[in-house]
Amino acid sequence: MTPIPFNRAAVTGRETEYVTRAIAEGPIHGDGPFTAACHGWLERLTGSPKALLTTSCTHALEMAALLLDLGDGDEVIVPPFTFVSTVNAVVLRGAKPVFVDIRPDTLNLDESAIEAAITPRTRAILLVHYAGVACEMDRIMAIAVRHRLTVIEDNAHGLFGAYKGKALGTFGALATLSFHDTKNLSCGEGGALMLNDARLIERAEIIREKGTNRTRFYRGQVDKYTWCDVGSSYLPSDILAAYLLAQLESHDRIQQRRHALWSRYFSELRSPAAAAGVRLPVVPEHCSHPAHIFFVLMPTLEARTRLLASLRAQKILAVFHYLPLHLSEMGRRMGGREGQCPVTENVCDRLVRLPIFYQLTDSDQARVIEAVITAWSAQA
Ligand SMILES: Cc1ncc(COP(=O)(O)O)c(C=O)c1O
Repeated sequence: MTPIPFNRAAVTGRETEYVTRAIAEGPIHGDGPFTAACHGWLERLTGSPKALLTTSCTHALEMAALLLDLGDGDEVIVPPFTFVSTVNAVVLRGAKPVFVDIRPDTLNLDESAIEAAITPRTRAILLVHYAGVACEMDRIMAIAVRHRLTVIEDNAHGLFGAYKGKALGTFGALATLSFHDTKNLSCGEGGALMLNDARLIERAEIIREKGTNRTRFYRGQVDKYTWCDVGSSYLPSDILAAYLLAQLESHDRIQQRRHALWSRYFSELRSPAAAAGVRLPVVPEHCSHPAHIFFVLMPTLEARTRLLASLRAQKILAVFHYLPLHLSEMGRRMGGREGQCPVTENVCDRLVRLPIFYQLTDSDQARVIEAVITAWSAQA
């Protein structure tokens, strides 16, 4: 029995050629020709006016926090069901994350609970479109306008996702993307900051270039560059951008395959799941998702443990996902306590992600489906 991994980064064919060209033609530092091409692709794909490649989504989130001048005494509303980087970006600036629980269906920030968490110190809502299924953006944007809050979309999962036909990552003033090798498109480690508020663009370029106006210098707009603001080095080498460009150019193929895999899981697992008391992903009608994650919600933690073990015995790697951030060591130090976000606490114990990646073959997927159904029947 050959092992089936949980994930393998897509390789679509031109990655090596482009990397070789980047090296041969140079320059290989950041903001070379391949980076410019990636910016163009991301802007066209999303409709966002400005993309800036970053070394990771983590760093794009840190840039967003710098751009908002978050600091001591500020509060930011975040879900506890997310990767640690979402929250670290806030904490690194000395601001306080305020955890608001998620909805049980989409596992996204519960928009009906946001207003109760807003105080005079709240500056922003930093949301995550889990699995690339949109948060309820109409409600959330209305709340943001009413309370004069900035919305930041951590769109690590959601490139190609949309809400009522509008691309995810274009609602908030700022949005971030991830090109880590677990994502649909990747360059190993990488990300992007998407700027939807034109007033933030020039400062974002400065923050990304060590607090200097080097980007303007490269454009020939100033004759020397200088230290203008706080900043760090957030731009990736053009070698990474070359790799990413190959993936962007092949996004149709990657997305088509991922959607075929996602839909097959959904259709073949639907009735066995119902019989076993297992819940499949919920995608509201007005949302289109990017087939980033296929998860199942087992009835209990024990049932999940048995499913994972049963798949492992067949050399299939399925994995759970986030642990509740408010109950982590750091989250507890910041006042997190049990029962604070009951939906997150419950879901984190029950969620299992099944293998889904570009190169997953039909026969390997059939093996996963059969193994899952067998495990569910044994548990019934
Ligand atoms: C919701 C979310 N935000 C941010 C990140 C961090 O992404 P990166 O690894 O590109 O820094 C991840 C990573 O998977 C994530 O799931």
